[in-house]
Amino acid sequence: MVKHKCTRWAVDLGSWSPTLQQLAQALAVIQPEERVRLLKFHFLDDYLSSLVGRLLMRKFVSTNSGVKYEDVKFARDIRGKPYWLQAEHETHSQQQLAFNVSHQGRFVVFAGITAQVAVEEDENITASSTTRFGVGVDVMKIEYSGGRSLAEFFRIMRNKFAENEWRYIKRSHHNEMDQLQAFMRHWCLKEAYVKELGVGVTIDLQKICFTVDVTRALAVGGLPLTGTILRCNDMPMHDWYFEEHLLHPKYCAAIAFKNCKPIVKSFELLSIDDLLIETEDAKSVAILDTCRNVLKKQRKTW
Ligand code: COA
Ligand code: MG
Repeated sequence: MVKHKCTRWAVDLGSWSPTLQQLAQALAVIQPEERVRLLKFHFLDDYLSSLVGRLLMRKFVSTNSGVKYEDVKFARDIRGKPYWLQAEHETHSQQQLAFNVSHQGRFVVFAGITAQVAVEEDENITASSTTRFGVGVDVMKIEYSGGRSLAEFFRIMRNKFAENEWRYIKRSHHNEMDQLQAFMRHWCLKEAYVKELGVGVTIDLQKICFTVDVTRALAVGGLPLTGTILRCNDMPMHDWYFEEHLLHPKYCAAIAFKNCKPIVKSFELLSIDDLLIETEDAKSVAILDTCRNVLKKQRKTW
């Protein structure tokens, strides 16, 4: 018997101006190759979003595995999807974890699943306990600033959505703002789905067709919509569950759960300080020098 626990965390970076100490504490715990990767970002905001994503993964794995925060190691698969790199002595853990991160604009979101194999049934693991479970998450800002008209933009994007999806997006009573929100909701669902698979955008998005839950409206702070149905190549996908959330009037998020039916909950909003710990490395000259340079990066406005 496997018990799944789902974690949904969101961080709103909208008003965060990192102090030298906060940045040093964050950089000190992530892996050196990630410090190098982050330097490629031109804007400080993109740097921080990606950094906070790394910290969310670390908090999740550390909390659920007992491995010390600064000792958790991640690797990326061939397509860039991060996974927990367990040390030999950690692989005997009864916990199996799956997680994914997304960031856009002022939000960084995280979704994770912890599967606990009950100890007393350990020697007799059931089929369901060996079924691969997984999660993908995506957050989108509900805005369009592409310069062209929305109709022209939709025309260009025509082959990214199925006919049924376009029918919903362009429903006659949908004004432009409704159409944009409907478009972003579908985009988010598709991204969450492909992110669970880890395949990026290599699959034909028109063959993935979502029917969104129309029983309720999406509301900030409300429970997510969970009645979404996915069909792939016209076949209903029974082992998938989707949640649609509205984090803010301008930000929607979707979570795709595979082989895991979650107890429905909202995102928990974490603060930056929930993700930081004091370490000796955070006081090192090398880290502090890197941080001073990072803090010179340009800011965006949301
Ligand atoms: N699968 C799942 N997760 C991945 C991943 C992969 N192959 N590669 C990276 N990630 C994780 C990482 O944690 C990454 O954070 P990082 O960049 O700070 O390391 C995070 O997901 C990025 O997710 P998100 O912020 O949602 O980025 P995105 O939406 O720009 O890209 C991709 C997500 C890379 C997985 C991929 O789906 C992509 O190329 N998307 C482009 C957009 C598109 O055309 N979407 C069409 C769907 S309608
Ligand atoms: Mg995304």
